Amino acid sequence: MSKKAILGHVFHAPVKGEFEHLVNACIEFDELGKISQVVTPDQHDYQSIVQKHQEQNTLTTLSDSQYLFPGLVDLHTHAPQWPQSGKGLDLPLFDWLNQYTFPLESKYKDADFRERFYPELVDTLIAHGTTTAMYFATIDNAASEYLAKVCKQKGQRALIGKVSMDEKSMCPDYYVEKSTEIALSDAEAFIQNIIAIDDKNGLVHPVVTPRFVPTCSTELLAGLGKLVQHYQCHVQTHASESDWARDFSHEKYQKTDVEIYHETQLLTRRTVLAHSIFLSESDKHTIKEVGAGIAHCPLSNMYFADAAFPLREAIDQDLHVGLGSDLSGGPIPSIFHACLDAVSHSRVREAGTNTHLMQNRGEPNTRVSFVEAFWMATHGGGLTLDLPIGVFQPGYLFDAIVVDTNAKHSQVRVYSDLDSPRDILEKIIVHTTEPAISSVWVNGNKVK
Ligand code: GUN
Ligand code: FE
Repeated sequence: MSKKAILGHVFHAPVKGEFEHLVNACIEFDELGKISQVVTPDQHDYQSIVQKHQEQNTLTTLSDSQYLFPGLVDLHTHAPQWPQSGKGLDLPLFDWLNQYTFPLESKYKDADFRERFYPELVDTLIAHGTTTAMYFATIDNAASEYLAKVCKQKGQRALIGKVSMDEKSMCPDYYVEKSTEIALSDAEAFIQNIIAIDDKNGLVHPVVTPRFVPTCSTELLAGLGKLVQHYQCHVQTHASESDWARDFSHEKYQKTDVEIYHETQLLTRRTVLAHSIFLSESDKHTIKEVGAGIAHCPLSNMYFADAAFPLREAIDQDLHVGLGSDLSGGPIPSIFHACLDAVSHSRVREAGTNTHLMQNRGEPNTRVSFVEAFWMATHGGGLTLDLPIGVFQPGYLFDAIVVDTNAKHSQVRVYSDLDSPRDILEKIIVHTTEPAISSVWVNGNKVK
């Protein structure tokens, strides 16, 4: 039973809207990665704990330029879209899916193709500090199971969905399930195989993943809902992502996406709805009642959403909400960057943009702070997933990153005579690029 510990400057967000900065904190975790204690120099047992780990050679001590953060949580990302990130962002959603995304995703049935890109993508996300990612894979079971194996082998916590899409009128004939029955049996086989791949490590989890309302028949949604009830697994999907997506559901079903998912039993405590731009008051009430969550993907929204997600309201109404990169609808594989995007997007929303108006250009009091974005990137993400991650507290899992402001090629500059702890936190969120992230741990294991 050998425990390990890490000693250094720590930032985390135990309370929404606030951050805690701990100087020379010592965080101890067991061999399963579970945090057993967090002690600071003012506590009476601090010295003895630090000394014990020094003597046992189980202490990692950070330097003054190194800051420890909870690992970043990406609630919504499309693993197969990595090779196209940065391309095609001039197109509206429907055209982008058909011209870029579906042709690319269909290639992953080829083993050489997936072996070329999935390891590179997982390495890239880990390098950017993403310790937990909720992934859309593709419709192909073997390719999606391969992604789970890559995540497990590289040590990233991953929630992975084989994508379900059977609506022939909305999917190209080269990228659609053969039938609703096959879609459902493949989805069930996928769940069972991911549980087997994880082998009780708790690192990779299956996710039921209907792509979005337009590409799914109601029979498929209802069948997937039954699987979710049976296996109690996570769910991810897109909800009300753009004018077009919202109108599609209204015209076909006279319902909102949230109503459709709720009726088909797909809305649970472990459901993550990406985007959710146009929610009705009743939708928000339903989401809150079941405890489902929202993946806010600000950069993607700027390209595809036609509007700004009402993030301020979602936070104030205590909905479960975290951040997603939405690769490649959002082209940047960094959740620190998503924090910056969330803040910037909220500021543009608050101010408005129409210079023909002399006043009342935006939506007053709708900004969010960097500290709130940081909470979403860590603790809020963990809460949304119903996993004990995102904060350094006993009982939580030790998923962590070190930002070293003195690392080679770091762009973070800290001036100790000028910068308060809040300043340092904000600068790290804004300026951290991959080279500044010097170490990454998942479940207490070092993965970078
Ligand atoms: N809606 C349905 N599929 C997708 C996708 O792959 N990306 C985004 N951003 N929206 C979607
Ligand atoms: Fe998406």
